[in-house]
Amino acid sequence: MNVYDSARMADVLAPLGYRPVQDPEGADLVILNTCHIREKAAEKVYSELGRIDRLKRARRAEGAGMLLAVAGCVAQAEGEEILRRAPQVDLVFGPQSYHRLPELVARCAGREGAGGIVDTDFPVESKFDFLPEEAADPGPAAFLSVQEGCDKFCSFCVVPYTRGAEYSRPAADVLAEAERLVAAGALEITLLGQNVNAYHGAGPDGEGWGLARLIRGLDDIEGLERIRYTTSHPLDMDEALIEAHRREAKLMPYLHLPVQSGSDRILAAMNRRHRADDYRRIVERLRAARPDIALSSDFIVGFPGESDADFAETLRLATDVGYAQAYSFKYSPRPGTPAAALEGQVPEAVKAERLAMLQELLNAQQEAFNRASVGRVMAVLLERRGRRPGQLVGRSPYMQAVHVAAPDDLLGGVVEVTVTEAHPNSVRAAPVTAGPETAWSEERVCA
Ligand code: 5AD
Ligand code: SF4
Repeated sequence: MNVYDSARMADVLAPLGYRPVQDPEGADLVILNTCHIREKAAEKVYSELGRIDRLKRARRAEGAGMLLAVAGCVAQAEGEEILRRAPQVDLVFGPQSYHRLPELVARCAGREGAGGIVDTDFPVESKFDFLPEEAADPGPAAFLSVQEGCDKFCSFCVVPYTRGAEYSRPAADVLAEAERLVAAGALEITLLGQNVNAYHGAGPDGEGWGLARLIRGLDDIEGLERIRYTTSHPLDMDEALIEAHRREAKLMPYLHLPVQSGSDRILAAMNRRHRADDYRRIVERLRAARPDIALSSDFIVGFPGESDADFAETLRLATDVGYAQAYSFKYSPRPGTPAAALEGQVPEAVKAERLAMLQELLNAQQEAFNRASVGRVMAVLLERRGRRPGQLVGRSPYMQAVHVAAPDDLLGGVVEVTVTEAHPNSVRAAPVTAGPETAWSEERVCA
């Protein structure tokens, strides 16, 4: 979502004459868009601020200025604290107020030495009502925020405090943005939300639309080939959405459905409000609806009070489900969250040991999934050039990174390939060909 937000910040600033550059060196304005989810991400902000401060000083020595802003969830959570630790910062603003950037940047002008500005109040208005139409090239695979914030209050998580209460954009706005993205060349759209499957936007028909209904609306957009959504909570995986995986042709057979832990005791302490078996049943229903669906998850190890037996339950759940890929993290106590104050914090060394064990299992599962795709034909959206000449990189329907030897003119298109080789984090593939003379025959290249 930070990638999406950053693109929208660029859109907001474009009328003021700002355009994105590749490197902060020599920039008039640097915005660090930050993540507060774990301590490591949040702390990275301060080392990065030190680096940018050196560029700012160099620019000042040349007689020019550089405005330095901190945006995103660290800004929201730490506010004034950022100015205290990094007085070189000119502006601090949260994830819900970047539509006010023109005004904020104007307020910074001429304040040299007067201290930075902090704007972390949650505005009453929705930023989406004030953002200009997207100007930046979305590329073949675009993001679209449809839902923000979270009311779930998992006991480890800062999101409900930093992104605020759950909000769903009206469906008509989402559909209009999707139409524009497709007109600008996007073939794939990933719907974004911290709790995207809790989406409940006002529909153009006066009804409340859930995510399944929204996906059906998107399915009708001509030229759009692929739809994804992330991130989902098991509690909101309703029948209509599971059915969407059976019915909607453009909905990709891949789902990121974080479970966090396989222990009922820990799930309860996390305030996840479901048991491990509830999750297993959802997976069964998803697989009944779409047998080839690939699953992904987030896991936290070393949550306060997690015993060896609890952790063994997490390994058992991961083994039962079988993931195509997954993300796992050591529990990181976050200020202001209930879990940070719990007894039974797990020692770092135990967390590290559990993380290594879980990752070994998840990596083996990912490799097995990649190996099982060797010999299969699948449609790949070629998103970018690879490191090697003559190589393009894209995503399979199952979100695998796919390296394809293909000419540049196929970049940005969906191409049918045969998977030839499996690697731990990616697969290699060759375009499907009808024969040596028709290596790039038109009918083999999907529109
Ligand atoms: N410590 C470790 N991991 C966390 N996550 C969220 N909060 C924490 C925390 N305090 C993980 C969860 C979530 C993902 C985005 O980040 O697994 O699904
Ligand atoms: Fe955080 Fe996700 Fe739980 Fe919301 S549902 S509190 S975003 S982990």
